Amino acid sequence: MTSSVGRSPGRVNLIGEHTDYNQGLCLPLTIPYATTVTATSREDDGVTVRSDTQDEPWTGTHATTGPGAAEGWATYAVGVLWALQEEGWHLPGVDLEVRSTVPMGAGLSSSAALECAVAVAVCGLTGRELTGDLRHQLVAACRRAESEVAGAPTGGLDQSAVLLSAPGAGLLIDFEDGSTRDVPLPWDEAGRTLLVVDTRVSHALTDGGYGARRQDCEAAAEALGLPSLRRATLRDVGGLDDPRLRARARHVVTENARVADAVAAVESGDWAALGELMIASHDSLRDDYEVSCAELDLVVATALDAGALGARMTGGGFGGSAIALVPAERAEAVRRAVDAAFAAAGFAAPRHLDAGPSGPAELLRSP
Ligand code: GLA
Repeated sequence: MTSSVGRSPGRVNLIGEHTDYNQGLCLPLTIPYATTVTATSREDDGVTVRSDTQDEPWTGTHATTGPGAAEGWATYAVGVLWALQEEGWHLPGVDLEVRSTVPMGAGLSSSAALECAVAVAVCGLTGRELTGDLRHQLVAACRRAESEVAGAPTGGLDQSAVLLSAPGAGLLIDFEDGSTRDVPLPWDEAGRTLLVVDTRVSHALTDGGYGARRQDCEAAAEALGLPSLRRATLRDVGGLDDPRLRARARHVVTENARVADAVAAVESGDWAALGELMIASHDSLRDDYEVSCAELDLVVATALDAGALGARMTGGGFGGSAIALVPAERAEAVRRAVDAAFAAAGFAAPRHLDAGPSGPAELLRSP
């Protein structure tokens, strides 16, 4: 019996929301919360998953880790074992022991952290070195696990962010050609901090709203005769008859432009400009894409009133977390203002978290 340990962070997305499945641009960063998985090989083909956040373990065999067979929270873990075997990997039976500090359902990619920590641990167990090429293969396998086994039709932002980011940097991802570029995020040195506020409104990407947005985008692209919305212009979008499709497509087109502008703002240290882009992104997600909620809007409005340079929801939406870029000396005041606003609105107390950037998924121990 041998064992290895993989660790993967969660992520926030600085900007570029609901663009990944439209072949667009996004700029996520890893956060200092992580999931650690210890994988121990077995003599038989049994598979078990235990987690410090779940009462009941998952038990099965390699034959029950695939689409339709696996169920419940552990699908994100065992789906990765299935996807890797689909890629031709030979795996022993395995016991997976999960520990996590990534809040679940908070829009911070707890599922991608689980998938990627399993994938990295399995690399260790099978004697593979975590090269750049292998990281790309793991992104693909974890995406398959999430869409085909867990049934969440997501776009790859999360797995790419946690597997491909460099320490201390955001990751500019272009989903049209799959290219990535590290974008150092030195806001700390410039006296700015990125705050993360978990609204405690739990979000799920398997419950229809996310998939419906995806379908709207596909319908809009089809109506325009384009393979995706990536190459659509605002003029094209203005010609769409259906007002809902027009609004969805307008979000995607303007959001891609905001990502490019945000990279330029970061690289020239123009934090005020970055803040304005974050605000515009939130407005677009709220009004055109309709994936915000009252709690997210309240975090954003309150943070801006209390001195944030910019704030926006992050991740898929319908709950989850918001981020705010604030002068470091205003951080406490912004947090207190958000707490007071939530109490006054009768919302459950939010949870305050730190942002990164931290670093990508790593193999902590191999046999
Ligand atoms: C979720 C999905 C991602 C991405 C975002 C929205 O996090 O998992 O693929 O679509 O929502 O940007």
